[in-house]
Amino acid sequence: MKLLVTGGAGFIGSNFIHYMLHHFPHYTVINLDNLTYAGNLMNLYPVQDYSNYRFVKADICDEQTVQRLFADGIDIVVHFAAESHVDRSIKQPEIFVQTNVVGTQVLLEAARMHGVKKFIQVSTDEVYGSLGPEGLFTEESPLAPNSPYSASKASADLMVRAYHETFGLPVNITRCSNNYGPYQFPEKLIPFMIAQALKNQPFPVYGDGLHIRDWLHVEDHCQALSLVIHQGKDGEIYNIGGQSERTSLEVVEKIASKMNRPASSIRYVADRPGHDRRYGIDASKIRNTLGWQPEYSFEKGLDATVDWYLNHIEWLESTRSTESGRFFAEHYGNL
Ligand code: NAD
Ligand code: TYD
Repeated sequence: MKLLVTGGAGFIGSNFIHYMLHHFPHYTVINLDNLTYAGNLMNLYPVQDYSNYRFVKADICDEQTVQRLFADGIDIVVHFAAESHVDRSIKQPEIFVQTNVVGTQVLLEAARMHGVKKFIQVSTDEVYGSLGPEGLFTEESPLAPNSPYSASKASADLMVRAYHETFGLPVNITRCSNNYGPYQFPEKLIPFMIAQALKNQPFPVYGDGLHIRDWLHVEDHCQALSLVIHQGKDGEIYNIGGQSERTSLEVVEKIASKMNRPASSIRYVADRPGHDRRYGIDASKIRNTLGWQPEYSFEKGLDATVDWYLNHIEWLESTRSTESGRFFAEHYGNL
């Protein structure tokens, strides 16, 4: 089995490559990534010399390169490559349309022309918009994205659906909640707060800090994706959630306490425009049809994650490029 993983140098993609090479050592994995600020080949050091792993540095929007790769024979595409940070999508929406929408269409076209057996679109619960205090997102919830990021992911999902309906491409769309774990770029809530704690810097909490996310450990996500690849019914959407809804404030307080930082380090800062209040996933479809359920409780997963960052300071250092440093400075100003 030959897998093409796009965005495999990013957070979830690299965890997924480790997961697949560990559980399916007879598979070949090709990692297509153009190494944006979020891509980091250090994530793949442990497997970089495996004979069944290959890295290709290219943009998913580059039709010629993508076509050439598919011509070599690809069985399964697992598509992670994306611009993935909501705050960046507010500042620079164009690149989100280019990578997330146009890039997905370039891959779909190549997958169709070369007859791949499965195309997995790794999407997000954010395409469903925001929930009130009650209820959960199901696969039938209407699409109502609120940020340029989630709108670009919803647009890509619709293109994936169209390639299934029109051309019969065997696809699945997965919509997961907020992931956390090793190798996550420290701009997302959990690794960002861990990095702040390590520098004795304050914790910027948006608005009132009562926005709710359903936290999913990345290993549980990878296991769900593996089930979808092998047993998912063509054309189906699967929601994947961690059954761990927490407010941002609860998450930050837990990190502060685990890292011995005082609660007074929390700073309430201006809210994100269009900030979704709550995400919550009904994962009963993947549980009932594919037998998946998360193994990590949030407390166990967060403990393991804080420990991982404490043991990988050199990895955190490697993410502090000039570009991301500038983004943080502009975004947060002087806390
Ligand atoms: P990430 O930002 O950590 O990694 C994205 C990767 O894609 C990087 O390695 C980057 O270099 C690569 N990339 C970006 N543009 C590219 C292009 N034009 N060509 C080739 N490669 C390109 O993202 P992540 O958090 O690992 O998310 C992976 C996927 O999962 C995304 O599609 C995202 O929308 C989705 N998702 C993420 C979360 C989450 O909590 N992180 C939740 C739901 C869905
Ligand atoms: P984030 O990790 O950016 O994921 P998403 O917005 O895609 O869900 O943010 C998670 C939550 O944490 C979200 O409600 C915004 C909040 N947040 C803060 O309060 N402060 C921060 O510095 C960051 C990065 C996020």
